[in-house]
Amino acid sequence: MSVQAQTGLNEVPTCHGGYENLDTEYDYWIGDVEGEIPADLRGTFLRNGPGRQKIGGETYGHWFDGDGMLSAFTFSDAGVRFRNRYVRTTKYLAETAAQKVLYRGFGTQIPGGWTKNMFKFPANPSNTSVIYHAGRLLTLNEGGKPWQLEAGSLKTIGEFDYNGELTGRAFSAHGKVHPSTGDYINFGSGSSPWRLGKLPQPCLDLYRINKTGHVARTNRILLDTFPFCHDFAMSDRFGIFFINSIVIDGMGGFFLGLHSLSDRIHFDHDQPMKIVVVDLDSLETVAQFETDPGAIIHFGNAFEEGEELQVDGMFTADFEGNDVLSDILNPHGRIGGGEYRRFRLNLRTGSVSSDRVCEYESEFPTFDTRLAGSRHSLTYTACSVDNGADSFYNAIARIDFEGQAELLTLEPGCYGSEPLFVPAAGSICEADGYLLEVVYNACTHLSELRVFRADDLSGPVAVARLGHHLPHQFHGHFSAAPLMS
Ligand SMILES: [Fe+2]
Repeated sequence: MSVQAQTGLNEVPTCHGGYENLDTEYDYWIGDVEGEIPADLRGTFLRNGPGRQKIGGETYGHWFDGDGMLSAFTFSDAGVRFRNRYVRTTKYLAETAAQKVLYRGFGTQIPGGWTKNMFKFPANPSNTSVIYHAGRLLTLNEGGKPWQLEAGSLKTIGEFDYNGELTGRAFSAHGKVHPSTGDYINFGSGSSPWRLGKLPQPCLDLYRINKTGHVARTNRILLDTFPFCHDFAMSDRFGIFFINSIVIDGMGGFFLGLHSLSDRIHFDHDQPMKIVVVDLDSLETVAQFETDPGAIIHFGNAFEEGEELQVDGMFTADFEGNDVLSDILNPHGRIGGGEYRRFRLNLRTGSVSSDRVCEYESEFPTFDTRLAGSRHSLTYTACSVDNGADSFYNAIARIDFEGQAELLTLEPGCYGSEPLFVPAAGSICEADGYLLEVVYNACTHLSELRVFRADDLSGPVAVARLGHHLPHQFHGHFSAAPLMS
């Protein structure tokens, strides 16, 4: 059945064909390249996301529960090589063998009622992001430990925990490499363990991993409420954590197997958003703020200016998007973006203010990470605009510091995602580089990689077309080292 027939409503097909499984693992040189891959774009572009949403006729209960599948585009003098491979997590292997849902997820219940789910925690699909740091390729999901893959073949090596440093602790999908030190800063939202006479307490676990890949420092910050943090912002000296106004209630019912975590997660309009600022050297709290209720799932850059911290975040005043994400195969669902806002945190007075930077619904911000923690002038986002088929990210924006945006709207029926900025080889200028955008064409049910000059979104300089679709993914990473020959 065609995607068009599946939707049945609009002339322009929605994004939902992009959630279909890609069960085949490929490795080939892309023969259909329009334009020319720039000579100063060399390295490997990696992306991670759920590659399958169905197993044996059963559908997972949430986009976040699909099995992680890494894809890689390597640019070399010989052309563009593509490879995709699933992460062989415990869940992936067991469910592939059984051809049915065996594990709970964030929004997935094991079929068969509450007794099948009682006292079981969500499995780790390792599907959210990817990092190549200190010679290790890791796929990441905040619900479990990283998984290590061979950098070239993408074969799974195994679960990775930094020699036991992650035991009993969470590790997010949104660690950041500090540009001047090469250290990898990450965190996890969790709770402290049971101890005699001491109840578990919500906490943030913090990690500083040095450029050789060893854990140099950890710290645990205890909190009053569970820190629903998916991402954080990093300035040169500080990690900035926004504790979103999102709560999970009904944990008793979750433990008893009556419902999933996603079923009981909601926005609390009475809970202020708290902000915890942590020193990146000591990993100790240096300041705390409180502001109006809200949620920020993804952050742009942050930097220090005088006594202020300025933080770019994609802000929302609700969490209704979670309902759509748990019903992604429904062609009537609309996934949009948030407000691109800039927060100003005064470290001396404790005041917080914010302004909307850009008018477009924006998500998945990227920027030149050589400037991570320092003042930047450009941010790139995935946008949702009305082009007659606005059910997903269908535009990308190049937004300057003052909020002036150059917008590229994709053709109706084409859907994008996080536009990753990659500096041109040897460049020293912030704007000198490329935007890499994977586009799913719902009209043809095929995907392609579009390469734009970052300073000119009028049209791609090259399009590398795949012979199949790529399911919608979450996050990408670029390694200047060519991980495939
Ligand atoms: Fe994310």
